[in-house]
Amino acid sequence: MYDPIHLADSVNIDQAWKSLAQVARDQLTDGQCGSLELDIQAAFAADSERQSRYSREAAGLQLDFSRHAVNPALWSALLDLASAAEIKTAAAAMFSGEAINHTEGRQVLHAALRAGPDSRLSNAQLPQKQQVQQVCKQLAALVERVHSGVRCGYSGRAFTDVVNIGIGGSDLGPAMVTQALTPYHSKLTLHFVSNVDPSHLVNTLKSLNPQTTLFVIASKTFTTLETLTNATSSRQWLQQHAGVDVDLSEHFVAVSSSVEKAEAFGIGRDSIYPMWDWVGGRYSLWSAIGLPIALAVGWKNFKALGNGAASMDRHFIEAPLDQNLPVILSLLEVLSVNVLGAQSHAVLPYDQNLAQLPAFLQQLTMESNGKRVDRKGEQLARASCPIVWGAAGTNGQHSFHQLLHQGTHCIPADFLVPLQSHNPLDDQHVHLVTNCMAQAKALLFGKSEVEAKRELLQAGCSEQQADLLAPHKVLPGNRPSLTLSFEKTTPETLGALIALYEHKVFASSVIWQVNAFDQWGVELGKQIGVSIYQEIQHRRYNKKSASVFDPSTEALLQQLMTLESNKKDERKPALSN
Ligand code: F6P
Repeated sequence: MYDPIHLADSVNIDQAWKSLAQVARDQLTDGQCGSLELDIQAAFAADSERQSRYSREAAGLQLDFSRHAVNPALWSALLDLASAAEIKTAAAAMFSGEAINHTEGRQVLHAALRAGPDSRLSNAQLPQKQQVQQVCKQLAALVERVHSGVRCGYSGRAFTDVVNIGIGGSDLGPAMVTQALTPYHSKLTLHFVSNVDPSHLVNTLKSLNPQTTLFVIASKTFTTLETLTNATSSRQWLQQHAGVDVDLSEHFVAVSSSVEKAEAFGIGRDSIYPMWDWVGGRYSLWSAIGLPIALAVGWKNFKALGNGAASMDRHFIEAPLDQNLPVILSLLEVLSVNVLGAQSHAVLPYDQNLAQLPAFLQQLTMESNGKRVDRKGEQLARASCPIVWGAAGTNGQHSFHQLLHQGTHCIPADFLVPLQSHNPLDDQHVHLVTNCMAQAKALLFGKSEVEAKRELLQAGCSEQQADLLAPHKVLPGNRPSLTLSFEKTTPETLGALIALYEHKVFASSVIWQVNAFDQWGVELGKQIGVSIYQEIQHRRYNKKSASVFDPSTEALLQQLMTLESNKKDERKPALSN
């Protein structure tokens, strides 16, 4: 019987951690940045098979982790840890519909959303599968109606633009995938508004025609402040242009697990597409939350995205630990954080269309595993989730890569690269790929002081000048990275890539013994925000304070109130173009 709290034998896990620590002490040396280090260059020199030994393939993705800080002893200790943590048992529990999100009493079934007919999901998911199929049919029909112009704006003109209003999981996944699949776009133009900062909505609506703009209001809970305020302002914008008596119902669709709340907001029941509490927000792009993706690239491509993810699901369930891409990525993360002492992790997609992948992975990883207590509620004995960040290459090379090469932090990097472009423009894509290769090589092999000095002397420097400058030109190298390459960024490959990271995050949560599927840490700030807003309202209308906050909050609040009372006319009730 699955027990979410005592998932694996803690004696086995403790023993595996101890063995890993012992192997690390035996195999690693003191590193450049106060952390431990493996001499990866020496490991390459000693093992002619190293590249193939640490390369794997699944679902169209090639993983090369030979540049990471692994050797046979460390790898074996890491695999023992994965076994002791019982990742496979935990994965089976997730796929078979156990309520593994025990702090919210919820199942975790995002994989059911992309399960094909040969799915390994057990019969326990049948009700979910039927629900999914029904909503899929409705979504496919909506996409068709919007594309064909049958569903159109209040003046009878076909929609040209879609604005998705949502935040967090109701924004990042759909926005990232929509951009990633730009080569597959239909004639609809997609826009994403997330921030409560009015500039986000105002700037977006500026160039849009109200007659031809469709809004998707995406919120799992339908209580999120940012989304509801932006949705209200969008409706006002439309009313301002169309007139308050005009029926604007065709301009709004909603996606939510709270159909009643969406209806109460004023969206017609036929235009509300359900999702369910068994899909976490950051795992929800496969649900109706993915509607903007389907509108952008068509239903066939949206399904292909799900099929790619389903291949990775099968791989995650079936492949042995040593061959299992999500498990391998997770073990490299554990190695980086808990052995090498890395606090951050760089994600570097060499694909401009994947520019939003780091932001998506930030939520996926850090909202899932940014936790300080284990599943029992006890303080973790060791570090958990690293800080995830990154940007598309080659842009990052002209900015933060300096720190990756010569800074004082150990920052393992994931290089992601499609080998072919959708836009084969002369040799530009070849330059992109060679830059990716060059960065990974430079991180590993670096440049010694001897080489640096030789170059300086060859360039005409005096011996004294060369001695002075050489230390500044040294790149110590030996900085771990991995490469994920694939033929092209297609819907299938992208689906597999996203599912790979989803399962990696899950596998790490199992090893760290945290619940990856709740996010209680985000609630306090929301509650305080509400209480400060209530106080502002009180001071506005009663001209006196009801609550006093801490001195710092109070000072800023008073600055805000003073400015507001001096410029009363500045708040605008509605938007106009
Ligand atoms: O505040 C965090 C969060 O709850 C995320 O987990 C979620 O993806 C986001 O807000 C948006 O929530 P909703 O889809 O309910 O509007």
